[in-house]
Amino acid sequence: MNKKDFGDDFLWGVSTAAYQIEGAFNIDGKGLSIWDTFTKKKNKIFNNENGDIACDFYHKFTQDIYLIYQLKIPNFRFSISWSRIFPEGVGTINQKGIDFYNKVIDLCLELGIQPWITLYHWDLPQSLHEKGGWTNREIINWFSEYVACCVKHFGDRVSKWMILNEPMVFTGAGYFLGVHAPGLKGIDHFIAATHHVAMCQAEGGRIIRSLHSNPYIGTTFSYSHLEPYSAENENDQKATKRVDALLNRLFIEPLLGLGYPLKDLPMLDKLEKFMHPNDLNQLAFDMDFVGLQVYTRELVNYSLFVPFVQANIVKASRRFVHHTIMDWEVFPDSIYHAVKRIEKYSNIKDIIITENGAAFDDSVNNDRVADLLRKDYLQKHIKKLLKAKKEGSNIKGYFVWTLMDNFEWAEGFKPRFGLVHLDFKTQKRIIKDSGIWYRDFLT
Ligand code: GAL
Repeated sequence: MNKKDFGDDFLWGVSTAAYQIEGAFNIDGKGLSIWDTFTKKKNKIFNNENGDIACDFYHKFTQDIYLIYQLKIPNFRFSISWSRIFPEGVGTINQKGIDFYNKVIDLCLELGIQPWITLYHWDLPQSLHEKGGWTNREIINWFSEYVACCVKHFGDRVSKWMILNEPMVFTGAGYFLGVHAPGLKGIDHFIAATHHVAMCQAEGGRIIRSLHSNPYIGTTFSYSHLEPYSAENENDQKATKRVDALLNRLFIEPLLGLGYPLKDLPMLDKLEKFMHPNDLNQLAFDMDFVGLQVYTRELVNYSLFVPFVQANIVKASRRFVHHTIMDWEVFPDSIYHAVKRIEKYSNIKDIIITENGAAFDDSVNNDRVADLLRKDYLQKHIKKLLKAKKEGSNIKGYFVWTLMDNFEWAEGFKPRFGLVHLDFKTQKRIIKDSGIWYRDFLT
């Protein structure tokens, strides 16, 4: 396999997110986000760790963007911390926040790296959360103000935009299971948040389209390749269909004008309470691309005891299959299936893999990290992507998750996904063998 096989215009990149790398959580006028407060609560995060400092990208961005340059990665996806721009979520703008992202963008461009902005990668301003956050319909206005501000300040130099990062994950983990910020639980929070998030997903797209002269607009979705635990078992098959509606269809279908997948997941009926008369139309927006974030395959079995979905995910370790330290099965075909499945929707334009990567236990020996497993993981997934491309799929790009080891949400700093190793005590960076492999592949 060769980079050339993908064509000269294929977009190769690397992805990050503000809360996971920036640190400087209360520096230069930044307001708190729900992750700043959630991580301070006892026993929410592995080892009670937090992203107060993380990779200190806020201060070390020059060094880190040079790493991207050194690795010859032409596209850099990062997110904007909403509360760095609007400390209170709306109203007064923090000029120092704007200055910071200007410096990041300018350095990227100076080095020939394309900046790709994700507008929302999970770090809602705490003050908006206190007004209900995603469960309050007002958020459509708050989000609109934030998006417009970003386009006005950065849109002269940035044309690649992603509205949201994995809406299913942040609504599910943050508003239903309570394991991510803001830690809310229960169906009512989840349903309310879902609808407002889906509305913002489309509204964000419309705002960029109206303010920018030549934008390339997308949004990202987590995609889990699902299979019934027992292929022949009818209950497992039906359970898989319900989980699919929840994990893979809930946010993309309203965007495509298909409404919510109510038929296959009756619990979604509750969404109706939040729908205003014209919402069905407002949920739709014609994205230039869809970002898919693919890591694994999940096997689903029927379970009477799990509310709403009556289904369980059977973890990789229980199935004794090769898995990462997230307990995610290594299953390269999942990336192929993801593309094949999503392109079946008739109005999808470009598809970009906006995240793919793996966490393994790395060790540093004489300043070297020989992370063969990660290299192998990336190589195999890229190969499967090529298979889909050769069969005619309209895949335009691939981004590795992630540039450097960082704060992995509820799992803290333990899972290391980076192409670059980070010593969180000394902040020393070492390019791993997987990073060198990616560089060689790209050149
Ligand atoms: C995604 C998320 C990233 C990163 C990655 C690895 O769901 O967008 O922020 O954490 O998973 O778990």
